[in-house]
Amino acid sequence: MKPIKVGLLGLGTVGTGVVRIVEGHQTDLQSQVGSPIVIEKVLVQNISKVRAVSINPAKLTEDAWEVIHNPEIDVIVEVMGGIETTKRYILEALARGKHVVTANKDLMALHGPEILAAAHENGCDVLYEASVAGGIPIIRTLIEGFSSDRITKIMGIVNGTTNYILTKMSKEGAAYGDVLKEAQELGYAEADPTSDVEGLDAARKMTILATLGFRANVALEDVDVKGISAITREDILYAKRLGYEVKLLGIAERQDDYISVSVQPTMVKLSHPIAAVNGVYNAVYVYGEAVGETMFYGPGAGELPTATSVVADLVAVVKNLKLGVNGKQELIAYKEKKLKTDEQ
Ligand code: NDP
Ligand code: HSE
Repeated sequence: MKPIKVGLLGLGTVGTGVVRIVEGHQTDLQSQVGSPIVIEKVLVQNISKVRAVSINPAKLTEDAWEVIHNPEIDVIVEVMGGIETTKRYILEALARGKHVVTANKDLMALHGPEILAAAHENGCDVLYEASVAGGIPIIRTLIEGFSSDRITKIMGIVNGTTNYILTKMSKEGAAYGDVLKEAQELGYAEADPTSDVEGLDAARKMTILATLGFRANVALEDVDVKGISAITREDILYAKRLGYEVKLLGIAERQDDYISVSVQPTMVKLSHPIAAVNGVYNAVYVYGEAVGETMFYGPGAGELPTATSVVADLVAVVKNLKLGVNGKQELIAYKEKKLKTDEQ
């Protein structure tokens, strides 16, 4: 059986989890896709850094083109983060017919349509399940699970770092700065945690969810954003006395042809299930005209939960590859979006 060869861009929190799952679950993965999955080459910034996972040093490189231009590699898994350079790498990989899995919401929220168009032109898959809500398979659910319905509202907690901070401030009276540092050490926060605490990370995720859920082009700049950096322990204490928890909520609503998307700290009644979503956990409510209310809950960040979604995408890409149907899954969402834009 010819192995499927993967080029990994990044070996930080998520990349480490990807290596662990691909190696640890190799037998299960192989039984699903019919071939061994091999991490062939890994791009890092600093080749001399001590790694959290054991990896053959010959596989590491600081030269992106050694991965992207490697003719042996079938799939690129992008878990390095960043926007412009990363976009260049992904477009170059697609132009060479390589399929792409990414966890990068910054990139997909800003350049998703362009990347998906390039994937379509090259008959490639670009899957990005891990970009929203870490270990919750919410993107696949929106594209496939709700294809029969008309979604009217998507609401929830989509940032693990801020929920971790708010939970620790509420339950333990912890200081904001101390908990933020903890979230960084646990690998939950972004390289620049400002995007977590100021709500931008959640806004990017809500842009992706609203685009897919409403089958429309939702732009990041149209999202109203407010983060949690100004929330004090006293605010949280007051809210609790009144019977509320403070949560950073993303809300996307559609009414007729009007779509509104916002991210803001919100007082949630203690009796509401969202008030009980604690720590790094996320929860996403999806309301459909036919289905009514649904809720999806799980870890929103961290090494293994996020890598679970990344490797699930990898399995999907490889299955498509074997069936010769790459590009199909995303094509549906892309075509629908394009149709909307053309109509406007
Ligand atoms: P880390 O900062 O832990 O890891 C980034 C990795 O990419 C490192 O190995 C780094 O190399 C490498 N890297 C970064 N920039 C470059 C570059 N320009 N050239 C070569 N290598 C580079 O990030 P995470 O693993 O936390 O996150 C990765 C991506 O996954 C981001 O897009 C993030 O938003 C997303 N994500 C993260 C989640 C999480 O829980 N952490 C959850 C969901 C998505 P080196 O090790 O040498 O420094
Ligand atoms: N920094 C992000 C979070 C990682 O805390 O939710 C997961 O996307």
